[in-house]
Amino acid sequence: MVAGAGTAASSASAAPASPWFSPSSTASAPGAAGAAPTPLDRVVPAPASVRPAAGSYALRSDTRIRVSGSDGSARRVGDYLAKVLRPSTGFSLPVTTRSGDDGIRLRLTPKAAGVRTLGAEGYRLQVTGRAITLTARGSAGLFHGVQTLRQLLPASIERTTRQPGPWRVSGGTITDVPRYAWRGAMLDVSRHFFGVDQVKRYIDQLALYKINKLHLHLSDDQGWRIAIDSWPKLATHGGSTQVGGGPGGYYTKADYREIVRYAASRELTVVPEVDMPGHTNAALASYAELNCDGVAPPLYTGTEVGFSSLCVPKEVTYDFVDDVIRELAALTPGRYLHIGGDEAHSTSHEDYVAFMDRVQPVVAKYGKTVVGWHQLTGAHPVKGAIAQYWGTDGSEKEVADAAKAGTRLVLSPANRAYLDMKYDANTPLGLDWAGYVEAKQSYDWDPGTYIKDAPESSVLGVEAPLWSETLQTSPQIEYMAFPRLPGIAELGWSPASTHDWEDYRVRVAAQGPRWDAMRIAYYHSPQIPWPTS
Ligand code: ACM
Repeated sequence: MVAGAGTAASSASAAPASPWFSPSSTASAPGAAGAAPTPLDRVVPAPASVRPAAGSYALRSDTRIRVSGSDGSARRVGDYLAKVLRPSTGFSLPVTTRSGDDGIRLRLTPKAAGVRTLGAEGYRLQVTGRAITLTARGSAGLFHGVQTLRQLLPASIERTTRQPGPWRVSGGTITDVPRYAWRGAMLDVSRHFFGVDQVKRYIDQLALYKINKLHLHLSDDQGWRIAIDSWPKLATHGGSTQVGGGPGGYYTKADYREIVRYAASRELTVVPEVDMPGHTNAALASYAELNCDGVAPPLYTGTEVGFSSLCVPKEVTYDFVDDVIRELAALTPGRYLHIGGDEAHSTSHEDYVAFMDRVQPVVAKYGKTVVGWHQLTGAHPVKGAIAQYWGTDGSEKEVADAAKAGTRLVLSPANRAYLDMKYDANTPLGLDWAGYVEAKQSYDWDPGTYIKDAPESSVLGVEAPLWSETLQTSPQIEYMAFPRLPGIAELGWSPASTHDWEDYRVRVAAQGPRWDAMRIAYYHSPQIPWPTS
């Protein structure tokens, strides 16, 4: 259960009565009933290789989903696919381990020679008149292939009531592997708290575009959102409010485990962040001894940054850090733990470096890889550390120097990848300190070359952060994330050779009717030729 969860009520799947909700379109769109099936290359992210062929496959009332492999992971993906397809088709679509050369076939063949190049996340999708065959080495590849298959079916496949069909998929072969291993999205659950169901709804949306990391910004000045048994007031006091003074909330350990479990079922790894040494007012308000003057400040519900700092010279600070990292690491099966490190404007440079020198080994002690905002490169990033770049023009020399010395980079340039920036002057939500970020601005850059003088091999991937100072509901999250999120996802997945705004804007336009069918409250960017009929 979500504690203190006034906001949890606004969660998830309920159709939101909100100005941000775009009413479902009943328009017929490319790929709708009667029209030619969607071309194999009309998907987001753009696949690495597409070979069209004559013919098409049509789902029928007697189609079976055939799963191979003995460990149950192909069956789990098959069950997920069946759940997507059953409501709109009205077909029973039984999932069976019985082999056959017809139907939708999900094949896990980790050792077969032809699939070795697919890696952990790649897949091959072959469509003939007789069968759709998805082949991968692991469940992540099958799952990503299923997302591609969804986009090749008519948009009405995503509706939750029975639709007329027909349900045809173009013939040919897609062979697809990601460009980058890190394709992330961050949700700030501190400035406004989002309940478990709201996070799950966002996870489902991220999975559509093959995002594989969910970074949760779990603490900030305005709220501490994760239960820590050894410092219980962090959550009960530090989590008791949010921007604007609402009730806030926090995840119990069971809530957090449920988010991790659900994310894993959608092939996403949770990357938890506790931001330190700045952005810590909620912790400082909860425990007086964490403050250099021994006096707890009041809780904070505004939106200023840079005024708080843990007390670097005090030993109790490191007892606190050790306890928090130990408990969070124990809750988190993924390899990564994010320690923040941004905007420590109330910490002297010497103290910042001393703090990071002392805290990074604690992350390693509990078996995790350090992730920090790129200001970490102004200290001494430990071997294996990952720096998340959130500047704007890629000119910071210390970031390039750290990359040359082995620090890996996740790119979130604020004027491209920050989903909380306004699209234009009329956007009713969001911030504008990094400028307006319309769909083209967000899409049209190359992660491989963005940081001047950083080796391309240092780039681990991309991430789209969504800060929540102005956001309180799922439709508001969606309005800021769509259509920009799929563009960042494409930068992370698709080969640089496919990068082309004119081509992308047509492919992302075809997502609009899908988002209508899924009741995703997207921004109708005038830069994108949404279907109108
Ligand atoms: C940040 O936007 N302060 C990472």
